[in-house]
Amino acid sequence: MGADGKPHKNSPELDASPRTGVLVCECGDEIAGVLDTNALCAAAAELPGVVHASCEAYPCSKDGLLRMQQAIEENKLERLLVAGCTPRLVEKHFREAALSAGLNPGGVEVVDIREHCAYVHADEPDAAMQKAADLIVMGVSRLATTSLPFPHTHAFVNSALIIGSGLSGLTVANSLASAGHHVTLIESAQELGGTSQTFQENAKDLIDGLIGIVPNHPGIDILLDSRLAQVAGPPGFYEVSIKSREQTKTITVGAIVVATGAKPLPLDSSRHFDPSCVVTQAHFAHDLTGAATAGSDLTMQDVVLILSSEDGGEYCYSHLSSLTGVRQAIQVKQLNPAANVTVLFRELYSTGDNQHLEEKVQQAKELGVTFFRFRTETPPLISEKTVDIDDPLTGQPVRLLYDRVVLAMPLVPQDNADTLAALLGLHQDKHGFMIEARPRLLPGRYCDTGIYVVGSAHQPVDTTDVLLQAYMTSSRLQRYLNQDSLSTGAPVAEIAQEACTGCGNCVQVCPVNAIQLIQKDGILSLAEVESLLCTGCGNCAVVCPVNAIRIPGWDDLAIVSQINAAFTSSRTKDDAEGGVHPPRILAFACEWSAYASADLAGTLRIPYPSDVRILRMNCSARFDPQHILWALLNNADGVLLGACHPGECHYGTGNLYADERVKVLKQQLADYGLDPRRVRLEFLAGDDGEGFVETITSFRDDLRKKMVKT
Ligand code: FES
Repeated sequence: MGADGKPHKNSPELDASPRTGVLVCECGDEIAGVLDTNALCAAAAELPGVVHASCEAYPCSKDGLLRMQQAIEENKLERLLVAGCTPRLVEKHFREAALSAGLNPGGVEVVDIREHCAYVHADEPDAAMQKAADLIVMGVSRLATTSLPFPHTHAFVNSALIIGSGLSGLTVANSLASAGHHVTLIESAQELGGTSQTFQENAKDLIDGLIGIVPNHPGIDILLDSRLAQVAGPPGFYEVSIKSREQTKTITVGAIVVATGAKPLPLDSSRHFDPSCVVTQAHFAHDLTGAATAGSDLTMQDVVLILSSEDGGEYCYSHLSSLTGVRQAIQVKQLNPAANVTVLFRELYSTGDNQHLEEKVQQAKELGVTFFRFRTETPPLISEKTVDIDDPLTGQPVRLLYDRVVLAMPLVPQDNADTLAALLGLHQDKHGFMIEARPRLLPGRYCDTGIYVVGSAHQPVDTTDVLLQAYMTSSRLQRYLNQDSLSTGAPVAEIAQEACTGCGNCVQVCPVNAIQLIQKDGILSLAEVESLLCTGCGNCAVVCPVNAIRIPGWDDLAIVSQINAAFTSSRTKDDAEGGVHPPRILAFACEWSAYASADLAGTLRIPYPSDVRILRMNCSARFDPQHILWALLNNADGVLLGACHPGECHYGTGNLYADERVKVLKQQLADYGLDPRRVRLEFLAGDDGEGFVETITSFRDDLRKKMVKT
């Protein structure tokens, strides 16, 4: 590197520079109205390795893409940088077009000079120009130093394993088998049907209907009294062992669907309720069904239905219990019009279809059901023969006689949920439900390719939602299972086995169990990556003590070269003006949260300090303390680390690892005599542009006020 931060013309980096093209987008006047795109283009042409640089009015247009492909072919480009709008919007299109022109799509990079420069620094055109020029140098540097991901292709089996035979499992099984895919359905109970939905509206009829079809379908194998014992292999080629009674069977499937549902918490046995008088909604459903089927009259006279568990339950599912309770009240009145039926509730909840609940409440009232609201502080007190509550309007105590009390109990995960989650590498929430991979970004996709979670296994849902999820999952699965082979172009961790010491750090932190230690020549344990499992988060690369792991696109050298290039033009200008400059902030930004929020700040045109350079990262799991230290020691006054909120990391828990690492780093900085306040980690949401601006501004102000230059 030269003193100006640019690679020397005769440096080895220059010799190794691939043939690079730079396209500067004018975006009509959106960019060109603020930035001198011709000057940016001319400066880019001087960068090492750049053999083509041009301005384009709209490179993402059909004509623009054709000209881009022409430039790739004519100049034999090995890398291409587009300086335009957000890569989140256009990078995919440029990569696809580049691929048709023979360029590895991994060699195409987009830097955002619109949302990150023209839109937010329109009032400071000089600063906007410096930032845009720096982003272009950073992009070219990254392209010159990064390794390219290459697609991994694996064999694929077009069949699925479904775990659980409730409404969701049966629906998915029927739909997949009807589309021609072989299905193995396993159920831990002795019969099909599941437990959680049987007392919900229509669920029983739907389940009974499916039980009439599924066992007779030639494309479905059913194993009752069976559990998943082991899973190995990548998505598309899972080898699963199933334990059925005393036998273990191994099959190979392309996808696994978890449809284990949830179960109602049993009544608290320490309360010593008379089990013939105080029952759960699930139990009561059986009583009502039995009476209706037998055509017998319901003998009970005084029925009290309590729609919220007494303590509210840690995991309340009032949206399910409300409708079920009201429906059961109606059924009692229909079976015994003379019965006194009272519904006690704190709130009447519903999901989505409020009108349906309102209609049911109206119907119940017309049949003579009494509704009574109680306060959280004064829940109903169940005694041997009575239920006591305080009337919230008058404050007076009310006593209700009963011969049956029906309690709504919280739904909890099935007993085997922890085991299943561990076997399949699924994340669970604090209650043990399996959580969506990306609730904010990909709602409805309960896990990534290969493993899917449907229905109440991920959180208690009603019949409508179960069916919605089951059909959504079926359609995704059909598309997935229709492939001949499975390939991924996503970056995958690469391990230099000659450098690996077999310490196993990477194995421990991999969120998807994609790395294992293997014996080589019977002596050493070496780390090996299952490429189809790897999501390329970079957590392993950060903990490798010998830097034996690289993530194409986010290699150490590619990150460090961007850090070096981050303030190239502003440094040149500041040096010329005597070295005085406002605090320079390098922001490592997770592309799913902080980077997206910076994009949004741009779209909203909310200005923020211009001495910020944003380095796009795939996940905060890749925030490496060594890189942060390098930035602090070289050219950044402060390093901002923007990660997803806890529970929202695209890769599970990368943000929690980042948080821990930053705490340790700050301590080390203090030990070395560096001000730890120069590093700040913030959890940001991708839809919070204002939050991004506030964070940057307050960090800049803090750095300005109390920065200790060391
Ligand atoms: Fe944003 Fe992991 S994806 S922190």
